[in-house]
Amino acid sequence: MKKLVLDLDVGIDDTLAVAYALASPEVELVGITTTYGNVTTEQSTANALAVCALLGAPDVPVYPGLPCASFAEDFTVQPVSAFIHGKNGVGEVDVPASDRAPQGQGAVDFIVEAVHRWGKDLIYVPTGPLTNLDAAIAQDPSIVDEVGAVVLMGGALTVPGNVAPWSEANISQDPDAADRVFRSGIPATMIGLDVTLQTLLTYRETALWRETGTEAGKRLADITDYYIKAYETTAPHLHGCGLHDPLACAVAVDPSLVECLPINMMVDVEGPTRGRTIGNPELLNDPNKTMEVAVRVDVPRFLDEFMGRITRLVSSCQ
Ligand code: RIB
Ligand code: CA
Repeated sequence: MKKLVLDLDVGIDDTLAVAYALASPEVELVGITTTYGNVTTEQSTANALAVCALLGAPDVPVYPGLPCASFAEDFTVQPVSAFIHGKNGVGEVDVPASDRAPQGQGAVDFIVEAVHRWGKDLIYVPTGPLTNLDAAIAQDPSIVDEVGAVVLMGGALTVPGNVAPWSEANISQDPDAADRVFRSGIPATMIGLDVTLQTLLTYRETALWRETGTEAGKRLADITDYYIKAYETTAPHLHGCGLHDPLACAVAVDPSLVECLPINMMVDVEGPTRGRTIGNPELLNDPNKTMEVAVRVDVPRFLDEFMGRITRLVSSCQ
């Protein structure tokens, strides 16, 4: 069975990615590494522990990640992140804190160890900035050839960004780290805004989770409704919230949900377009493509899987 590690800035859609992973019998969630972005790394770690407990998986190990971007000395949550995810990252919903401590081992050491342990069976799914993965590659470059796959949520190739016309939120947090990861040769699939903004959720679907009557169902519905409400302000034309992070998780479980363009990618790190994800012109004619960018998604099939799996999961919880 494939082993999954999620790297999260938890985060409402990160929470939905955890739910999707736990609801997928095809994979084993062997660990969560945490990062900053929607919230601080510290809050993300607390949220990961709490969300796992809420969703009936109180034993998933959580490894605290780096606190800020590779070029920065500290990190402050942007007001727009607090608006979209709530100050606590889970839509201001009171998710009971877990009494479990995070692992003593940090995220970077765990990533290196996990790749050596599980090799091609390991799928690593970052849904925040790529700072932890970049640091792990710097610590042990051999993981690039050993890991099974990286399926990352971030970037935008054929559509505008969401924090600037050229830049998506996760990549823009640490463009330097993302550029190094993209150029490293690690086999990676980019699940960007090109596809994640086609997969939308509305109050109609979250009502089904609430109707299960379980604490998990009610709280997950309340958390997600906060996110849908924020989208009514930030992207009213969509008529729903973008299922960014759960789509990346779903593709890790079943790659046939998307169609991809094989391409060697880079990230602009200089000038006004810093944070733009784009093809690397120097490797345009290289027959060896190390990355794939998802450009089409089977929306009905993904939404069906998403709702079926997560509804079954919350029904089985307390
Ligand atoms: O741009 C969307 C991404 O930014 C998602 O991963 C969301 O959780 C935020 O981190
Ligand atoms: Ca995220």
